[in-house]
Amino acid sequence: MSPHIKISGCVFLNISLHLKIKWPENFYMLMISLKELKRKRRIVSHIGKGEVVVCWDGKNVFAFSGFCPHQGGPLAKGRLKDNLLFCPWHGCCFDLGKGICVDTGSCRNVRKEDVVLHRFKCVVTDGMVCVDEA
Ligand code: FES
Repeated sequence: MSPHIKISGCVFLNISLHLKIKWPENFYMLMISLKELKRKRRIVSHIGKGEVVVCWDGKNVFAFSGFCPHQGGPLAKGRLKDNLLFCPWHGCCFDLGKGICVDTGSCRNVRKEDVVLHRFKCVVTDGMVCVDEA
């Protein structure tokens, strides 16, 4: 049987089988309202088995993995001060703008360069925060 689509009683040949469908360039893995983010200051979302934390520091939007690169601590519950995020487990402090660890807190035998925050790319457009892989 040939593929057909019925619209308003007419019969059209389904030509989509012959078209190449392009994946949109502006496809993001997460979109949230900037207004809501400003109100809540922090929004946690789950994508697959991962957790993404999006936060507003009063000037900028940041998105990063909810799991600390040290031992998987819950960064969504970490204290946020300006653009610095403190892991609630051992106190590693991350610069959200750069993703680097600026203080290893109470961690022993850990080098700052070995604990790098996994960040996501953020674009704000039309009042929406669009988050995607960096
Ligand atoms: S798990 Fe985050 S500092 Fe140890």
